[in-house]
Amino acid sequence: MDKIIIQGGKPLIGEIEVSGAKNAALPILAATLLSGGEHLLKGIPGVKDVSTIQRLLRKMGAQIKEQDGVLSVRIQKIENCEAPYQWVKTMRAAILVLGPLLARCGEAQVSLPGGCAIGARPIQLHLSALEKMGATVKIEHGIIHAKSSRLKGANIYFDISTVTGTENIMMAATLAEGTTVLENAACEPEVIDLAQFLIACGARIDGAGTDRITIEGVRSLSGGSYRVMPDRIEAGTFMIAAAITKGDLAIRSCRPDTLVSVIEKLRTAGATVTEGREMLRIKGGEIHAVDIKTSPYPGWPTDMQAQFMALMSLSDGLSVVTETIFEQRFNHVAELRRMGAQIRLEGNHAVIRGVPSLSGAPVMASDLRASASLILAGLVAQGETEILRIYHLDRGYHRIEEKLSGVGAAIRRVKGSG
Ligand code: EPZ
Repeated sequence: MDKIIIQGGKPLIGEIEVSGAKNAALPILAATLLSGGEHLLKGIPGVKDVSTIQRLLRKMGAQIKEQDGVLSVRIQKIENCEAPYQWVKTMRAAILVLGPLLARCGEAQVSLPGGCAIGARPIQLHLSALEKMGATVKIEHGIIHAKSSRLKGANIYFDISTVTGTENIMMAATLAEGTTVLENAACEPEVIDLAQFLIACGARIDGAGTDRITIEGVRSLSGGSYRVMPDRIEAGTFMIAAAITKGDLAIRSCRPDTLVSVIEKLRTAGATVTEGREMLRIKGGEIHAVDIKTSPYPGWPTDMQAQFMALMSLSDGLSVVTETIFEQRFNHVAELRRMGAQIRLEGNHAVIRGVPSLSGAPVMASDLRASASLILAGLVAQGETEILRIYHLDRGYHRIEEKLSGVGAAIRRVKGSG
């Protein structure tokens, strides 16, 4: 297994490029199942989860080829409607094929995603919504067996704002008979990106980005061309990299309008942020203690909680990080403590007392964003940090060590044996 080694202490200075958003690319790739036309997609990031879903789509009959940064995806005939456990266990987002398969071919056998490092991750809201649209859903031996002649539009209220739940049902509703209204829908920018792609394929969707989305079903969709939005979590991670190393980064190809809560909090924490049209510049300064509480968009993103905790480990005071979305998203705390961070956990609160410096140490990645927080801590820790199990990191960041060394970090990947 590969590992990453960092010599801490180098301020990051220069320009860094953000890739396309993993959490927009995954639902958009799943949505290509909805029509037999050719889709031309730009900005698809080269992260592991995206190659996983492409392999899954190929097994279902997709022809996928890439040329000059444009990914062509065409699924003229769905050869099989299965997403077996081997795929779903490595990437829970494979559940996103459920809605499109049901809408396109009237059946789907998708493995029930288990939990993961950050929580139980149930999907009952996805299933109950599909049943309201007329599907029969049975779970046998860990497999979701869903069937429906033609889904019917319905009024769906989500008890909890669920991102992939909103995306799954929005995709299913595009080919349903009649109108579907999603109440308490997720407002994340990635939901808007998916809706815009579906509209480019001929779907009729209103209200994406608000908590009430209306979808008018149509008989069929065409292929569509679309450029995936920049990854706001990668951009936010680079912002914290500049703040924690007291560097000065121009972050290119990003969308500051999707980072309002992150920009505001980092300014309060002492960074200087100037916004451009598709870029932003961030200069690190003193690190002030700031509290955050994760919440659905436009609140502080849960996917940025671990990264912010690394920054607060070096603040000038006491800060509280509250995680309200997932029940187990503090796996990075034990590893940050190994580097000298002073963090106390009380339920879903982490109380962080800033220390003057962290010390490099061998640490273990446990999940995607915890890995990112360990990279950030290693960039500023005294001495050498060795991060193991970085396959977690590769799921959502494309060659992050190359991007960071391009702006001065002393970071390298060591190929593991086996
Ligand atoms: C998406 O996961 C993202 N993944 C996650 O990013 C992100 O952390 C999460 O949204 C929250 O923003 C993708 O988009 C591929 P949810 P998702 O359904 O859709 C509960 C990353 O690091 N819930 O919005 O699975 C659930 O347990 C990943 O890139 C139910 O109870 O998250 C959680 O507490 C990690 N029942 C809350 O809702 C359901 O049926 C929000 O989960 C569905 C969800």
